[in-house]
Amino acid sequence: MTLRINVISIFPEMFDALGFGMSGRALEKKAIDLCLTNPRDFAKNRYRTIDDRPYGGGPGMVMMAEPLSAAIDAVSGIKTRGQSAGPVVYLSPKGRRMTQTDVELFAALPELTLIAGRYEGIDERVIQTRVDDEVSIGDYVLAGGEFAAMVLIEAVARLLPGVLGNDESAVQESFTSGILDYPHYTRPECFENLRVPEVLLSGDHKKIAAWRKQQALKVTKERRPDLLEKRSQGTD
Ligand code: ADE
Repeated sequence: MTLRINVISIFPEMFDALGFGMSGRALEKKAIDLCLTNPRDFAKNRYRTIDDRPYGGGPGMVMMAEPLSAAIDAVSGIKTRGQSAGPVVYLSPKGRRMTQTDVELFAALPELTLIAGRYEGIDERVIQTRVDDEVSIGDYVLAGGEFAAMVLIEAVARLLPGVLGNDESAVQESFTSGILDYPHYTRPECFENLRVPEVLLSGDHKKIAAWRKQQALKVTKERRPDLLEKRSQGTD
């Protein structure tokens, strides 16, 4: 199965960065069909203008409703392919914060449309009429939604069947179990006088599993006690 991801951005070349590593493999194996659309191609004047000054004054520019909505409508399957293009997600610092649960839901869809905004944001009427979900990747402000969209795509790519190679790893590690990951070691056994914990060399798989669980709980308690509280409440 292929997940079609439509991306609307005035910098489509930035998404070349997805051609490496896990997302590169997802594209190569056609687990993801990435469809890039530039709102400039839908601008109404010969300068290809897609932004304008905000009504009411203030700093910066706002992405205009017309080119952006025309771009969304062009990729939205209803008009072009007679089917829904799945949810339209706007990446924005004032969106709800994305979690691994959201990533899992996105990965299970057949199609997804991402809007990467620039400047101070997009005209509110595009959100009203065409956006289903406004999502932030964290409490900090980026200069545009492109990197946020790529973060979402990479997080989704590694969950798609056949992409990781080892389907177990995606399920086992951090956040899927609701807590942080345990520490990892590989050869050599001694590095700058630091030895690999003895238990990992013991071959006792039960003991190793117990040690890893205890380490994961310890680091979670120290760094993200909120995750342990959420887990005990059974909420996301
Ligand atoms: N665009 C700018 N900042 C962002 C953020 N934190 N998350 C998603 N999109 C953004």
